[in-house]
Amino acid sequence: MEFEPKLVGFLCKWCSSAGADLAGVSRREYPPNLIPVTVNCSGRVEASEVMRAFRDGADGVLISGCHPGDCHYTSGNYKAGRRVALLKHTLDEFGMNPDRVRLVWISATEGDEFARVVREFTEEIRALGPGPYSNAKERR
Ligand code: FES
Repeated sequence: MEFEPKLVGFLCKWCSSAGADLAGVSRREYPPNLIPVTVNCSGRVEASEVMRAFRDGADGVLISGCHPGDCHYTSGNYKAGRRVALLKHTLDEFGMNPDRVRLVWISATEGDEFARVVREFTEEIRALGPGPYSNAKERR
C-alpha cells in the first residue's frame, strides 16, 4: 500500500485559513492529508510546535500566512520567515530533511493556490517518505 503522508498545516486565520475555506466552498480538489490548525498569525507558530507535530507523527509541516505587507500584526509573517529559516537550518544540522517544513503566503482569495500548495506538498513529502517519528507503519 502506498505511503500516505500525514501533514499538519498551521494556517493564519486572517488569510490562509480563509483561503482553505474558499478552496472547499469552490470545490477545488486537494488531498485530504493535511490537518489544519488555525492560528492567529504565522508569526505565532513556535519552533517547538512544529517539532511537536513531528514528534506526534507528522511527516511534513506547512506554515501559511498573509503575504508580505498584509500581516494583521504588521510583521508576524516576517518573523515567521526568519524563524522557519532558522528551524530549517537546525533540522538540517540534526539530519532531518528541511524540506519537510514549508512556509508559504496564501491570501483569503487564493483558494486555488491553497489547493495547489497542498497537492504539491503532499507529493513532495510522499517522495521523501515517512518522517523520523512517523507512525506510518501503523497506518499501512
Ligand atoms: Fe496573517 Fe500575520 S496575521 S501572517
